[in-house]
Amino acid sequence: MANQSRAPYLEALREYAARDPERLHVPGHKGGPAADPELRDAIGEQALALDIPALTWGIDTGPEPTPFQEAQALAAEAWGAKRTWFLINGASQANHVALLALAHAGERVVVQRNAHSSTVDGCILAGLTPRFVAPEVDPELGIAHCLTPDALDRALTDTPDAVGATAVSPTYFGAVADVARLAEVAHSHGVPLVVDEAWGAHMAFHEDLPAHALSLGADLVVSSTHKIVGSLTQSAMVHLGHGAEERIDQSVVDRAVTLVESTSPNSLLLGSLDAARRLAATRGRELLGETIAAMTQVRAAVREIPGLQVLDEGIVGAPGVHGYDPLRLAVDVRGTGASGYEVAAALRERSEVILELAGENVIVGVFGMAEAAAPQGERLIAALKDAIGSLGDRGDRTREDFAAPPPWGELAMSPRQAFLGPQEVVGVGEAAGRIATESLAAYPPGIPNVLPGERLTAETLDYIQTTLDLGGSLRGASDRRLRTVRVVAE
Ligand SMILES: Cc1ncc(COP(=O)(O)O)c(C=O)c1O
Repeated sequence: MANQSRAPYLEALREYAARDPERLHVPGHKGGPAADPELRDAIGEQALALDIPALTWGIDTGPEPTPFQEAQALAAEAWGAKRTWFLINGASQANHVALLALAHAGERVVVQRNAHSSTVDGCILAGLTPRFVAPEVDPELGIAHCLTPDALDRALTDTPDAVGATAVSPTYFGAVADVARLAEVAHSHGVPLVVDEAWGAHMAFHEDLPAHALSLGADLVVSSTHKIVGSLTQSAMVHLGHGAEERIDQSVVDRAVTLVESTSPNSLLLGSLDAARRLAATRGRELLGETIAAMTQVRAAVREIPGLQVLDEGIVGAPGVHGYDPLRLAVDVRGTGASGYEVAAALRERSEVILELAGENVIVGVFGMAEAAAPQGERLIAALKDAIGSLGDRGDRTREDFAAPPPWGELAMSPRQAFLGPQEVVGVGEAAGRIATESLAAYPPGIPNVLPGERLTAETLDYIQTTLDLGGSLRGASDRRLRTVRVVAE
């Protein structure tokens, strides 16, 4: 075990700044003196001093292993990866990398239908044609859970030329997939499993959390380190699993990382990854233990508020839910009669409590690995009581039906062809039968109804319109009220 209490890359940045070299290199603020004074004041001289470019001797060039290589090796060890890459364009970049890496083996890939938009964008970049597979949907809450191993097996059986499969776990709402079985299924079909674990970077550091994807046989794991573990926004990692190399070539991943990355990666982002890894590896267990205990209290207090229910381990065992991440606080607001959008607005306007996500039925708050969750939870509980009180008695929506979306349309061309080809904007009345160039995802439940390359159906357009009329929202569309749609020109 290497010394996880070191942060070699961050230390090398600080040593460089402390030597106060003459900076005849970029960036033009020269480590602070040439920066706008208000910027200097706002983010601090030290942050500017540590903004050091790539290819600096003693940091990421010079005798090997360089501090940058050491930092990534420490991260690989901490998460149990064969190799880890630090990324400066988020888990979005990690998904682009994953799809570009898979595309070396062929042209088709099995993709969980409600994958993050960066997965679909990865297919566009890589020229892969997706064979979509639906996640399970919670019929009561109208939210999407995870992909089941059986559904993956059917999709891979149906797509013998698929070169890999991608699945999301945990979901936005904290549901965790049966990654061990998903990996077994993928491997039994001879293909790698990519797990988008953007929301689960902390899961490697406490035994009371669901096991993390790398420990369960996933081949390539997308990790949005900034989300829960606390590196700076936009910093992320992609991990290659031990044993994955027979399915994914390390050098191909390496090339894909550089293809979708600036040649000037920000050292503050990279340094924050090194520091977040150290915090997680050395104190994660203790910090997470506190957060998990505090979250149990917070959940109990939310349940006491009339009309509110919380999602918890109770959802484990529902179709598509193998585990549950307790750092997510997903609250079912239907019993208040108000929508999640209304509750979120009241929390924001009356108490400055800002949530991660609000949907029709559920609101989600995210707690961080090292957060003082107990006092934050108390503030939230007081604000929730106030918000619900302010919204008044609106009856109970718990029994309202959730209409399942119609099946998605035929994939008439690859997402890449649709995205890059000639396009035109048509009124929604003329859109049925045309091929979409954009994504349309009605919330709830947020599973894309239409993705680039798919033929639009009247049924789907009606469904989206009804969802909008009922107060739902539409993501991905160039016209969020669906008056027009961008389609392939004919
Ligand atoms: C499942 C999933 N994957 C990937 C991403 C992209 O992460 P990032 O914002 O770090 O690029 C997100 C962002 O919310 C996500 O929810």
